[in-house]
Amino acid sequence: MLLGGWIMRYKKHKYFVADRINLIQRSKIRELFERASKMKNVISLGIGEPDFDTPKNIKEAAKRALDEGWTHYTPNAGIAELRNAISEYYVSHYGMRIQPQNVLVTAGAYEATYLAFESLLEEGDEVIIPDPAFVCYVEDAKVSGAKYIRLPLKEENEFQPDTDELLELITKRTRMIVLNYPNNPTGATLDEEVAKAVADIAQDYNIYILSDEPYEHFLYDGAKHVPMIKYAPDNTILANSFSKTFAMTGWRLGFTIAPEDVVKDMIKLHAYIIGNVASFVQIAGVAALREEASWKAVEEMRKEYEKRRKLVLEHLKEMPHIKAFEPKGAFYVFANITGTGMKSEEFAEWLLDKAGVVVIPGTAFGPAGEGYIRISYATSQENLLEAMARMKKALEEL
Ligand SMILES: Cc1ncc(COP(=O)(O)O)c(C=O)c1O
Repeated sequence: MLLGGWIMRYKKHKYFVADRINLIQRSKIRELFERASKMKNVISLGIGEPDFDTPKNIKEAAKRALDEGWTHYTPNAGIAELRNAISEYYVSHYGMRIQPQNVLVTAGAYEATYLAFESLLEEGDEVIIPDPAFVCYVEDAKVSGAKYIRLPLKEENEFQPDTDELLELITKRTRMIVLNYPNNPTGATLDEEVAKAVADIAQDYNIYILSDEPYEHFLYDGAKHVPMIKYAPDNTILANSFSKTFAMTGWRLGFTIAPEDVVKDMIKLHAYIIGNVASFVQIAGVAALREEASWKAVEEMRKEYEKRRKLVLEHLKEMPHIKAFEPKGAFYVFANITGTGMKSEEFAEWLLDKAGVVVIPGTAFGPAGEGYIRISYATSQENLLEAMARMKKALEEL
């Protein structure tokens, strides 16, 4: 870079920073949250994490682990016991044989996703990212230097990929497609035939599927989840997490399952960014997967989410100008607000000012989220009832 360029860069940022960091976009909704934090009596339906506490048996396991001296480094890939427990979990829940050497314990699904982008994509490779989609994939793509191509998901297809459209986006440079079901932000689940069709495409064109599945246990109305790895085992990089399942967002515990060679390559990077997930947290992860008490707690949380989902859907039906997509998974409702004549961001600001309720504009998840808002029901029924009453009043007065 010429001297002038350096000076310009210095003036712009006050200190030198790598260009790839400048590519990362902090969430567009920060301003909304900042404004909400200065207001009184606001109810947030913007939450992206369980409001429940981590089940007691998991916390006890972590405390015991600390007392027993689990305070040292562990193998980079994670302790054998946890890798084994994760493999056993796939046998007991899905009847699938996953070998421990295909498992890498990560700091949440975030790290698993980041490792997939960094290890598998070269500068200029193409990755297909659905639109709308959870926010990290696009930022990961930018940092990796990969070019991201967006695959619009439509409500008429229940926010699942249209495989003909997917095929049209594939070029010689396509290396990966991202999937996330049950989905954030739409709450959609993936039908088996669509999963199989995407798996066939990935196999035919030699493309990786990054399948991000942290909401796999939050399913309603008889919906079933099948891990993508079942359909395309040699092509799938599965990202999963304890964050949502066991209400453990702050513990930073997740994992990836991938072909053995891919895992080995991911470990190279993982070893130099975090080394290993905290040792006592890994022990708590073993307890989470193996003890009955934690699974009982998961089912209790799922039942509570189910009640809240019903409450929100029933109340939204009573409101003018808004129409919810009926989700079968996660803890979000994606609702169409085009009837209000407002854009998504405008609607979210209006609702905050008028009703003191925070929702996330659909555009936070990509341009195809225009016309929608995301409502999270990871909050108490009491809060939800109050928020619904306020929304109804505001919409009726519009
Ligand atoms: C779809 C999706 N993937 C990944 C993550 C990150 O989860 P973790 O806490 O496991 O890093 C989230 C968190 O909200 C998410 O919604």
